[in-house]
Amino acid sequence: MKTTDGGTTIEGGWPQEAKFEPTFRGYEYSNQENFNREIEKIWMKSWLLAGRVEEVPNVGDYFTVQFEKENLIIMRTQSGSIETYYNVCMHRGSLLCTEEKGHMSKGYITCPYHSWMYDSENGKLLSAPNIPKGIEGFSCENVRLNSVKTEIWDGYIWINLDPEAPSLEESFHLPKSWSIYEKYDMKNLKVGAQKTYTVEANWKLIMENASECYHCGNIHPELSRVTPPNRPRKWIDKDIPDTTVLKHVGAMELKPGLERVNMDGKAYRQPFENLTEEDVSKIFYLHIFPHCYICMSADYVFIAALWPLAVDKTIIKGYWMFTPEVLENGEPIQDAIDIWDITSKEDWEACEWAQQGNQSRVYENGGILTPIDWRVAKFKHYVHEELAKPV
Ligand code: FES
Ligand SMILES: [Fe+2]
Repeated sequence: MKTTDGGTTIEGGWPQEAKFEPTFRGYEYSNQENFNREIEKIWMKSWLLAGRVEEVPNVGDYFTVQFEKENLIIMRTQSGSIETYYNVCMHRGSLLCTEEKGHMSKGYITCPYHSWMYDSENGKLLSAPNIPKGIEGFSCENVRLNSVKTEIWDGYIWINLDPEAPSLEESFHLPKSWSIYEKYDMKNLKVGAQKTYTVEANWKLIMENASECYHCGNIHPELSRVTPPNRPRKWIDKDIPDTTVLKHVGAMELKPGLERVNMDGKAYRQPFENLTEEDVSKIFYLHIFPHCYICMSADYVFIAALWPLAVDKTIIKGYWMFTPEVLENGEPIQDAIDIWDITSKEDWEACEWAQQGNQSRVYENGGILTPIDWRVAKFKHYVHEELAKPV
């Protein structure tokens, strides 16, 4: 890491190769055609974090995910597996599951419009009321829901809308790329709180914002109080290199004297049992392109997954995870919720400022990325490389 001479070092400096370079150009944040291209070439081809297995504990439990024009059903099936389908009935195109979260009896997906019923195990149409069996020109056998590739890793549900997509393991270089985070035992954590935010900004601004802590001292007084951005940062991407989509963003250190990354720095819960003393004094950040980041602290894990609804509108789902014991015993969790709820809202406001400014004529050619923004530059390169790939 190279550091500034004499100046205040943010995030422990930047790598040798970091340089000044242009940002995305203005239109890349607001042009509809560009957005459509990103959806086709990035979102329809990437592994996306849909949620957590514990959100659908019982057969027939489901939740839905919306991005751009697509709505998807993620459901626990009769065999216990988790499957994903486009939320589109093959009769006349109605939504099948109309709630964000719900339950379909015995895992049979029944359309609310004319009651066609599908098997969540394989998407097959089981029955179409009032259509005689054996009638010419129609057979339930030939009708199926459109399914989406689904894989589970460490309790996370990953989906990929590209039927030809390589496996999650291949795409993420699992498990090697993840090994350093195994001590957080995320497979056994449970969601203790979930919040959904709507931000009037392009999705890329949200990932860019998450990629740097240059802004932390300015807009995050609460977070900067506990993990000051000018404390040394523990970089781990020398030991575990980044992959195309997994970016190891290192660990920030607690201010000496504080115990936890929360509102007041005090400990309200035991640290996860496999952490060393050094781990407890840090919060690790992992970014997974194109759309999520995982923040691992001593006694909770916070995740954010963003979903673009339109070129200038994005939904962000935040999840706070704790050990089952913490949740069963009713231990306090508000300290962890508050720090990321407040910090996230500060981030979203800044992203909205940037969305407004980026649409100006004077931002046509974009702005300037500094060496401190080196991870923002990595994200920009990733987006441009994906867009440049042949279809
Ligand atoms: S649209 Fe679904 S049953 Fe008619
Ligand atoms: Fe921030």
